[in-house]
Amino acid sequence: MTGRVLSIRGVGRRFVTDGTVPAALSGIDLSCPEGSFTALVGPSGCGKSTLLRLVAGLDHPDEGEIRFGNAGASWLTPDELRRKGALGMAFQDAALMPWRDVRANIALPLQVLRRDWRKDSQQIEALLALVGLEAMGGARPAQLSGGMRQRVALARALVTHPEILLLDEPFGALDFVLRREMVRELQRLWLESGATAVMVTHGIDEAVFLADRVVIMARGPGRIAAVVEADIPRPRPASFFLDPAFHALCDRVERLLADAS
Ligand SMILES: Nc1ncnc2c1ncn2[C@@H]1O[C@H](COP(=O)(O)OP(=O)(O)OP(=O)(O)O)[C@@H](O)[C@H]1O
Ligand SMILES: [Mg+2]
Repeated sequence: MTGRVLSIRGVGRRFVTDGTVPAALSGIDLSCPEGSFTALVGPSGCGKSTLLRLVAGLDHPDEGEIRFGNAGASWLTPDELRRKGALGMAFQDAALMPWRDVRANIALPLQVLRRDWRKDSQQIEALLALVGLEAMGGARPAQLSGGMRQRVALARALVTHPEILLLDEPFGALDFVLRREMVRELQRLWLESGATAVMVTHGIDEAVFLADRVVIMARGPGRIAAVVEADIPRPRPASFFLDPAFHALCDRVERLLADAS
């Protein structure tokens, strides 16, 4: 670790609705150390996706600022990070291009950065193997199961070797068994990548399994209500799901979430 941090300071965002301007987010303060994993949970509409979009530079705050860096070096804005390919994103519905095969979908961020991705073909094959889809590189998204599509979306989020990995309900509509499998796969991919990860989820169990800390948000306006630290060594084995420490953390998050809802 070089001691950099993803710093979110006093961030607020308002949207105009029916002539009124309610705050979707207000006074968000969060510091994510480099290489850490932060999970965001909270009731629907509390601004989780809005916050992730601000970190991704897809939208801009009305107040406050978001930066990545450290005191000794220069700080980068989300726009600067995105332009240099330092942001990897996987959002709710895998959103793959149906007419492109799996390889070309994974390569998309490289093309957006105007890199010649054919030169990176070895890396794309390595990513396919990493997400267990080495035999599926030539398949179209329609030929894949939901879980396979999510894995393609993860590989695509990792293809630029991002320093920051942003995941918005990456396992959306997957069944229980597949979710558990994907959660462990994500832990492995993230540990290998060394990225600073922020993941939005409605699954308390996957938040606790993956995260160094779980941030519980409340709405009206969207704000941070509580933070639960999960100081458990990595890699966390599948048996962590059965561990009393895991269940104690889940109970705490669930109670705080009920208070915040
Ligand atoms: N572009 C927009 N224009 C107007 N209002 C918006 C816009 N984006 C978000 N909002 C509003 O901001 C609030 C937060 O929305 P957001 O999508 O961030 O919630 P969320 O926590 O991700 O919810 P969910 O868990 O259902 O995905 C909502 O009230 C939503 O209607
Ligand atoms: Mg959302």
